Amino acid sequence: MYVIVGVTGGIAAYKTVQLVRLLVLDGHEVHVIPTEDAVRFVGIPTWEAISRNPVTTSVHDDVAKVRHVALGQAADLVIVAPATANFLAKMAAGLADDLLGTSLLATTAPVVVAPAMHTEMWRHPATEHNVEVLRGRGVHLVGPEDGPLTGGDVGPGRMTEPEQLHAFVTALLSPRDDLAGRRVVVTAGGTREPIDPVRYIGNRSSGRQGVAVALAAADRGARVTLIAAHTDTDVLAEARAHPRVDVALAGSAAELAAEVSTRAADADIVVMAAAVADYRVAEASERKLAKEETGGELTLRLVETADILAALVRDRRDGQIIVGFAAETETDAAALLERARRKRRRKGVDILAVNEVGWQKGFESADNTLTFIGAHDEVIATVSGTKREVADALWDAVASR
Ligand code: CTP
Repeated sequence: MYVIVGVTGGIAAYKTVQLVRLLVLDGHEVHVIPTEDAVRFVGIPTWEAISRNPVTTSVHDDVAKVRHVALGQAADLVIVAPATANFLAKMAAGLADDLLGTSLLATTAPVVVAPAMHTEMWRHPATEHNVEVLRGRGVHLVGPEDGPLTGGDVGPGRMTEPEQLHAFVTALLSPRDDLAGRRVVVTAGGTREPIDPVRYIGNRSSGRQGVAVALAAADRGARVTLIAAHTDTDVLAEARAHPRVDVALAGSAAELAAEVSTRAADADIVVMAAAVADYRVAEASERKLAKEETGGELTLRLVETADILAALVRDRRDGQIIVGFAAETETDAAALLERARRKRRRKGVDILAVNEVGWQKGFESADNTLTFIGAHDEVIATVSGTKREVADALWDAVASR
């Protein structure tokens, strides 16, 4: 594979030498593109020797080969390590005032970025905004890690170690098809329980995590039915366009239950990522409730909805794997784990994906943290990252069963 390693001006550049070496040893064609600042930390002779290819920072060298775009066009993958705060800002803005900038604009390959900077810079709203912009564009951010920094300070900002970056890049370069031919049903979004023709009881689920789970399965070869309750605008667009994903819609918990019971029967794997209402209004009004009639106080009688997951587990066919989700507000880690283990046992699922949520946590964000609990109450993994990254980790957990 043709890999570009962009290096920007941070002290962690010395670690990137090891990353380049690992990629070369794997047999990849590696081209290093440092910025002018980067070569003050590690010089061009080192990059040339280690990558076994010529190295320049300038768009004006090798002009006959249209080098300023040729490298980016040829790339199967681009990794920028370390990426400084300044370079993240340049990338977010699409600036192309050096060879690394033009190469990044010219590439359609996956881009991986390993930020490294001091904690204050990483937490600055400008950097946070740039990171969000890049994530929104599909850039994979790896790190930074928490630990001692060059100035003697401690906190998030260390570049991820080259061996870990190498593992991440290797996984991206060899797409998996470990779900090829599997039939997968995923539910996503939040149900809405009608009060009257105008109002409903709903929840904050955007559907992003469930849709990411569906897309990750489809990209790994599965045939996926995505049953979507209410989702945010545009969340379903990518799924609708995916050749291996069928999208079905369901409004209320009862509608979702009906869709799941018909579509999950012959599935190999079912993932209940939807936020299903536990209660519905006992008698939804046929007409819009009016204050004139209800007066100064309104009591709604709520009754429990059918537990879809419980029915799935009861009717499961031989070998079918069932994954449940649990969104919990418990903040004490040990108590959260204990609660999650009890829920997994009660639900009887093979894997329970536990999601810590709160007023400011878990919703309306591109990132998530999930803990996967297996059938013997063991913690299979705890993963943080974009919703897509944790979705892939969920499939790794399923594959490990
Ligand atoms: N779920 C379901 N049917 C319901 C409610 C929930 O299938 N009527 C599924 C969800 O999709 C999720 C899992 O059950 O995968 C856990 O949901 P949760 O609401 O946390 O479970 P409960 O048993 O309702 O637990 P709690 O009392 O903590 O709400």
